[in-house]
Amino acid sequence: MSKTISRVIVRTVEETCEFALKEVAPVLKEGDVLILDGGLGAGKTTFVKCIVEYYGISGNIVSSPTFTIMNVYRGEKVKLFHVDLYRIEHNDDIFFDELFETSSNCIFLVEWGKRFVTDIVKMVEGRIFILNIRIIGDQKRELIFETYSDN
Ligand SMILES: Nc1ncnc2c1ncn2[C@@H]1O[C@H](COP(=O)(O)OP(=O)(O)O)[C@@H](O)[C@H]1O
Ligand SMILES: [Mg+2]
Repeated sequence: MSKTISRVIVRTVEETCEFALKEVAPVLKEGDVLILDGGLGAGKTTFVKCIVEYYGISGNIVSSPTFTIMNVYRGEKVKLFHVDLYRIEHNDDIFFDELFETSSNCIFLVEWGKRFVTDIVKMVEGRIFILNIRIIGDQKRELIFETYSDN
């Protein structure tokens, strides 16, 4: 059962980052997975940038790993795995299989991960969270941070 942890309406990228820094990043621990849900241009990669900066890593190195599938960002204390499953069609994809193998010592930030959430649950030991991003206007977004499960 999913449970809403926090939600907000934001009007700027700065407000999105503020929510990421105050409400989301402090909750995440090594081994956890944050799935970013929302259509093209919703702000999934932007949100990853905000989270990455929480760990003292420059957001400038963040880009959507649409073709590489995964980017790794190393902070002083934690390693962040930024995954984009947009191009993965099936859960039997050879890459998908190994993606979450090293899941215990890093935090996963997964774009387009919601359609594989039941597979991800089986592969990781940590908790699964979902951040829903809904575009309301030009810059206006609704952000809903919720648990997927607490296994
Ligand atoms: N409130 C907001 N929160 C996040 N992004 C926003 C917001 N308002 C406008 N944007 C813009 O929307 C775009 C989102 O792009 P991106 O993060 O790459 O989306 P996605 O990864 O979901 O495709 C960026 O250009 C960002 O500057
Ligand atoms: Mg993206």
